[in-house]
Amino acid sequence: MTATGSSRTTPADITAAAIASFESCADPRLRRLMQSLVRHLHAFAVETSLTEGEWRELIAVLTATGDITDERRQEFILWSDALGLSMLVDALAHELPPGATESTVLGPFYVPGSPLREYGESMVVESGAGIPAWVYGRVLDTDGARIAGAELDVWQNGADMLYAVQRPEAEEDHLRGRYLTRDDGTYAFIAVRPVPYPIPDDGPVGRMLAATGRHPWRPAHIHMIVRAPGYKTVTTHVFDATSRYLDRDTVFAVKPSLLRDFVERSPEDPERPAGVEGEWVSLENDIVLAPGEDGGAVVDPGRTA
Ligand code: BEZ
Ligand code: FE
Repeated sequence: MTATGSSRTTPADITAAAIASFESCADPRLRRLMQSLVRHLHAFAVETSLTEGEWRELIAVLTATGDITDERRQEFILWSDALGLSMLVDALAHELPPGATESTVLGPFYVPGSPLREYGESMVVESGAGIPAWVYGRVLDTDGARIAGAELDVWQNGADMLYAVQRPEAEEDHLRGRYLTRDDGTYAFIAVRPVPYPIPDDGPVGRMLAATGRHPWRPAHIHMIVRAPGYKTVTTHVFDATSRYLDRDTVFAVKPSLLRDFVERSPEDPERPAGVEGEWVSLENDIVLAPGEDGGAVVDPGRTA
């Protein structure tokens, strides 16, 4: 830049200078990330003719996001979820062979360290949690061979729409558990029929959804992380194929291959599992794991309660 002359500094000059400031970054990946970030950020401001007032508003939103974030709540990831970034990063990270169970978003309600439960055991600790669901299936490889000793780490909400981790008074292990497949690759457990629920919408993300005319709802689903030695870990959901919001999940996490039928069963049904009373449902859900090492489930230390 010369110190003399009457030429004006243009927006393009400012962008070029900010990009060039990273030229001497020794880490090539970091250099690429920062330069691309600046390029896209500046292009956003130029494309929208971003005003100073809007810039201040953006800073206020980021500040509020930091303020509400603590060890129990991660509002930055909620932004990533609600803007579709979490699903995009997940899709870029997990290219799978045909037939392998697709991954989807982890969500904020995963708590590591669920109790290891027996085949067929209920993970319903509190009464009145919802319609009992017998969930069963096999864990297979992409050739159809059964995988023994695979672990399914499962969590879900109850009929009150809440995960146990959202209720301070809840039994800690309510509606969560880890299950191992038997020698024939089968697993089973008792859950409840999940219901649609809103993502936490009492913070900046919720205000954005309201201001833009978006809703906060997710369709009914059960979460699973499935792991086995020699296979890629998959973080996924099984969705109720009849749920509302399947076509407009607020975090864009529905994949058609993850929809399953919850079959309504009568109390007199001879297959009614022990300990289940009244109406119940069953859900068959095979999981297919891709070969490989653990590609890294999208587990975020900041999201655990
Ligand atoms: C969930 O499914 O638990 C979830 C995912 C993303 C944002 C909020 C909740
Ligand atoms: Fe969920």
